[in-house]
Amino acid sequence: MPRFLNVACVTALMALVASGPLDAQLGGRPAEQWALVLESGRRLGSLEIENVVSLIEIEEGQVVADLGAGTGVFSVPLARAAGTTGTVLAVEVDAGFLPMIDEKARQAGLENVQGVLGEFTDPNLPRRDVDVAFFHDVLHHIDERQAYLLTVASYMAPGSRMVVVDYDMNQPGVPHGNQPEMLISPQQVAEWMANAGFVVSREVDLFEEKFFVIYTKVGQ
Ligand SMILES: C[S@@+](CC[C@H](N)C(=O)[O-])C[C@H]1O[C@@H](n2cnc3c(N)ncnc32)[C@H](O)[C@@H]1O
Repeated sequence: MPRFLNVACVTALMALVASGPLDAQLGGRPAEQWALVLESGRRLGSLEIENVVSLIEIEEGQVVADLGAGTGVFSVPLARAAGTTGTVLAVEVDAGFLPMIDEKARQAGLENVQGVLGEFTDPNLPRRDVDVAFFHDVLHHIDERQAYLLTVASYMAPGSRMVVVDYDMNQPGVPHGNQPEMLISPQQVAEWMANAGFVVSREVDLFEEKFFVIYTKVGQ
């Protein structure tokens, strides 16, 4: 089976338990069950985690928000990239994921990953000097995307970056194809980002079915 279909099946399974935007955000089942899906070998094998993190070009000492961190599969490599003087704020609305993120960081010997319990409309970040806000497979789960991005932008200064890796509704066979409220396009995201003060600074051609775009906040 092509890799894309494997991932699509997993995502379709996730969609089955989600009957609406709020349920989609909550996941509709305990974090322990979601963790099995998020950490399935097939999914992890398709994410190109190290490649994605490397392409973001995080600098030592930077503050990175991993928004919708899930089990933290990106939080740990992001924290390594930020180095011991940097910080990863691993944000989740599902409190059940926070101990999993802590444990992953502990096992990796990292002390620079901080779990944050966010709200659906506000990540509740403890600081307003975020250098990189990272969304992997998350933005389409968020109900009020424009409002959320505006709020995230309020934690960030000019020159900081948002990174979105997500399924592109323009691609054939995209997951959640029968749930229009779960579909987004890079064009929509670029518009929401522009309204939040961010411009596209890099489009990375890494995945067939997903877009991977880096946006930079303009202004002084
Ligand atoms: C498909 S998972 C992706 C997890 C992780 N980013 C990854 O790629 O492995 C989507 C995650 O987004 C979280 N989420 C959904 N809405 C959110 C919101 N408004 N703020 C923060 N997290 C949210 C869910 O709880 C879920 O863990």
